Amino acid sequence: MLERVAQLRAVLELELSQISTVEQADGFRLRHLVRKGTVQQMIDEMRSLPTSEKPAVGRELNVLKAHVETEFATINARLQQNRKQQPTIDASLPARRTGHGSVHPIVATIQRVVDIFGRMGFSVAHGPDVEDERHNFSSLNFPDDHPARDMQDTFFVQSNPATLLLRTHTSSVQVRVMETVAPPIRCIMPGRVYRNEAVSSRSLAEFHQVEGLYIDRNVSMADLKGTITAFARQFYSADARFRFRTSYFPFTEPSLEVDMSCFLCKGDGCRICKHSGWLEIAGCGMVHPNVLASAGINPEEYTGFAFGFGLERIVMMQTGIDDIRLLYQNDVRVLQQL
Ligand code: DAH
Repeated sequence: MLERVAQLRAVLELELSQISTVEQADGFRLRHLVRKGTVQQMIDEMRSLPTSEKPAVGRELNVLKAHVETEFATINARLQQNRKQQPTIDASLPARRTGHGSVHPIVATIQRVVDIFGRMGFSVAHGPDVEDERHNFSSLNFPDDHPARDMQDTFFVQSNPATLLLRTHTSSVQVRVMETVAPPIRCIMPGRVYRNEAVSSRSLAEFHQVEGLYIDRNVSMADLKGTITAFARQFYSADARFRFRTSYFPFTEPSLEVDMSCFLCKGDGCRICKHSGWLEIAGCGMVHPNVLASAGINPEEYTGFAFGFGLERIVMMQTGIDDIRLLYQNDVRVLQQL
């Protein structure tokens, strides 16, 4: 019997050494390690041996069984592990790219604007989004019941509707700057603004503006035109032409709107400029003496100009997207193209 145990051991060792797949391992287990398998069968046989032979054979069989089981467990675990990994590993494949975030087109545009004005000596200022009625309207020469207040439908803050509101334009920051900085002032003020408007492909209730303010002695319309033209030539295109149309804003006198020859068709007419050849780029004007005075600046001594423009419109024109809402849905497929 001892000899047969030795033979079985030799067979099992050989077979173990030849297992190379999960299927082979399974076959081995079914042949040898289950209840009806070779090892258990030999153990059963041993039970009918004469008592004198039992201990020696039993010891051998126990050693064999333990040895085969641990060997098998190790081999099987390794094969199972390999099987799990195999299909997903192909070292020859190119590495998977991870997505990189990027600056949102609105923020990137603000940075460009800040950069260009920065080179012309303008610093940057910010003001609060929740503004009071005085900075948003009164100090900007909107009389209390003047219809100009209706030009910009306002969100009022419910807890304090008499005085608090979400600023309707960045012009409110002009007032804050004038109240705290002594002239000369050269400053741009980018920020978020809010209007109670129906959301559509052309307008949002929350959008961005960049405001500009220049106050010093002897500032004239020529400075205003020169500054806006210099900016737009750098921002849009060096050969742009401009026209200034008279307009109305309570806080400037005279007030103007600036049109630039379309940067895409150079004035011939295209989809971007709605076939007019011109793009409206900013509202501007000479700061109204009342505005200077209410911020504590003497209008006899100082004059200045201001301008303001909407950022979303610029980004829409430059990217050719025709629905403003696409800018804020944060669909990566859209943002990657802008
Ligand atoms: N605040 C104006 C608006 O929201 C834009 C504007 C026009 C700003 C003329 C100015 C300006 O500073 O001088 O439509």
